[in-house]
Amino acid sequence: MAKVTVIGAGNVGATCANVLAFNKIADTVVMLDVKEGVAEGKAMDMLQTAQTLGFETQIIGITNDYSATANSDVIVVTSGIPRKPGMTREELIGTNANIVKSVVSQCLTYSPDAVFVIISNPMDTMTYLTLKATGLPKNKVIGMGGALDSSRFKYYLTTALKANASEVEGLVIGGHGDTTMIPLKRLATYNGTPVSALLNAETLDKVAADTMVGGATLTGLLGTSAWYAPGAAGAYVVESIVKNYKRLIPSCVYLEGEYGQKDICIGVPAIIGRNGVETIVDLKLNAEEQALFEKSADAVRKTNAVLTEIKAL
Ligand code: LAC
Repeated sequence: MAKVTVIGAGNVGATCANVLAFNKIADTVVMLDVKEGVAEGKAMDMLQTAQTLGFETQIIGITNDYSATANSDVIVVTSGIPRKPGMTREELIGTNANIVKSVVSQCLTYSPDAVFVIISNPMDTMTYLTLKATGLPKNKVIGMGGALDSSRFKYYLTTALKANASEVEGLVIGGHGDTTMIPLKRLATYNGTPVSALLNAETLDKVAADTMVGGATLTGLLGTSAWYAPGAAGAYVVESIVKNYKRLIPSCVYLEGEYGQKDICIGVPAIIGRNGVETIVDLKLNAEEQALFEKSADAVRKTNAVLTEIKAL
């Protein structure tokens, strides 16, 4: 069984830890936060659901003592500030880059073999920073954005189709940003049937547009960034790693020529298993999709360049 550490016991981190415990994805879940008492309190609160909900997972809440995270199989990084209404994910870089850099290096001291799942925003750039700052092999660093964006795409598709959530498939590639993500309308299906057979182009375009601003819509409603779907999507990626399910999950991974891109972490379909990124699936995009992917990669590169400006890399 597995030990999973979640850094950051805010809304996203705590939701992720809760799903990991409740779904018995790990047998030990460590939550670590900088705020005195928060991780301990949330761990205790969750453990008080163990009997009611029926799980035996150990949940440990810690303030800043990284030794408690030792020998984790997977480390989920959610640290940093979330966005406020009207903010883009990219605007968080100045604050979050140094936090993420320090967190991953401290985790690595105690868990040199861990696979890292990065959720902190701007996620594509924080994944790139983790890879570059640690020198870890590229299979060990996975950015969680595609799983979340795809779940939002499937939500909007399900709503438009009036279908059951389990019967709709779709994936979102590219950057995890309001203007950089690419919902692949052409490949979405309803029980194996292309959704274009059931939805007209206008509806499908609206589904894609709603997906792209899915996070911003929730930030507007909630006053802060969303957490149920981000936390659950993080746990979904962790499950595929610790149980070696080899799920195909659109994930932010390091590209070395795939999709015509090099030296960038960006969302593409990947097989996720015990080794982290097992395989990058080199999907044949059509000309329109490829052009969008290139535009998305340019935008992610622009954000990555800020890492040098602020001396995080
Ligand atoms: C969102 C944040 C977590 O998309 O990036 O909700």
